[in-house]
Amino acid sequence: MNILNARLRGRSGLHRIELDGARIAAITAQQAPAEACDGDIDAASNLVVPPFIEPHIHLDATLTAGEPAWNMSGTLFEGIERWGERKALVTHEDTKARAKKTIDMLVEHGIQHVRTHVDVTDPTLSALKSMLEVREETRHLIDLQIVAFPQEGIESFKDGRALMAEAIAMGADVVGGIPHFENTRDQGVSSIRFLMDLAERTGCLVDVHCDETDDPQSRFLEVLAEEARVRDMGQRVTASHTTAMGSYDNAYCSKLFRLLKISGINFVSCPTESIHLQGRFDTYPKRRGLTRVAEIDRAGMNVCFGQDSIVDPWYPLGNGNILRILEAGLHICHMLGYEDLQRCLDLITDNSARTLNLGERYGLEAGRPANLLILSAPDDYEMLRTQGHALLSIRNGKVLMRRTPAQIERY
Ligand code: FE2
Repeated sequence: MNILNARLRGRSGLHRIELDGARIAAITAQQAPAEACDGDIDAASNLVVPPFIEPHIHLDATLTAGEPAWNMSGTLFEGIERWGERKALVTHEDTKARAKKTIDMLVEHGIQHVRTHVDVTDPTLSALKSMLEVREETRHLIDLQIVAFPQEGIESFKDGRALMAEAIAMGADVVGGIPHFENTRDQGVSSIRFLMDLAERTGCLVDVHCDETDDPQSRFLEVLAEEARVRDMGQRVTASHTTAMGSYDNAYCSKLFRLLKISGINFVSCPTESIHLQGRFDTYPKRRGLTRVAEIDRAGMNVCFGQDSIVDPWYPLGNGNILRILEAGLHICHMLGYEDLQRCLDLITDNSARTLNLGERYGLEAGRPANLLILSAPDDYEMLRTQGHALLSIRNGKVLMRRTPAQIERY
């Protein structure tokens, strides 16, 4: 199969992408627009990119908003309360069915790589068991990384350390954490040392819910970055949320950035969730409650965007479309400058691939997997401005999804 008349990011002109089974065989520049023959796909001068990535979602909680009750205040704390009621109704099949339905929504928007956090503060580890099955049963659709996520803490939860170790032994790919939620500062620090030890010992990646609060005294990011620096593990470590950084004073942040840069860790921001849940203790002026996305990016560090929730007790909206998160995030983070617009898709493609450590399993290059999207616009800026879509998603050389744009008739 060949894809003709493709525009590629960072290269001028049109290109032909030759697929050989599940691999990309060659990418060559075209001198002129080409006619499609049998079996070829015409990209029609639109952008072709590697698949979109969802680097931070909670598939075990999705599609539960309003069951049994809605979050009336919209706050994080009422969300936890509502989830407590829903959690009592969770079954193995219920978790699997909701996760698969959500994965279908992600696939329909061109996502083929997903990192999901799964709550392991449960003596039966039932959500993890469900998600391990989902990972196998959806391999034809997505690559799923499972984070062992201690929603109620590692040190603060009974047998928290043993549950984390068991979750990794059962097959979770990534070690999680939630240091700012532990009962004391000391427990937060020791939870990070424990989870970094576990990751180092098992060779797993790390993704910590870190400082997801407006409290400027929540400073576990420095602990995580220092542990990553000392162990030389930065590329394998991700700090999710880090919303407290939006409330740190500049003097502390400038010192912190030095360490963050040396450590080489990755960052995920979930802009729609954070603008919704943070700033809740403020009247006016009201904080945005996001980490310093533009500043992290400008400093040459790696940052990407994720959805976090889809229709759960913490966030009632979402449809799987990561482009919606990109648009909101760029607005909220003051990233609509010319240069940001030219390369905005980095935040949901290449940067996310680096966070997930996808390496040579990702990207449009000969020899890599034939996983790619044809988009509805010729470049990053037009994709964003027109609220474009992935029109075609190809995985392992086969068409996975085709979207027909809406037709408008004017009279
Ligand atoms: Fe999260």
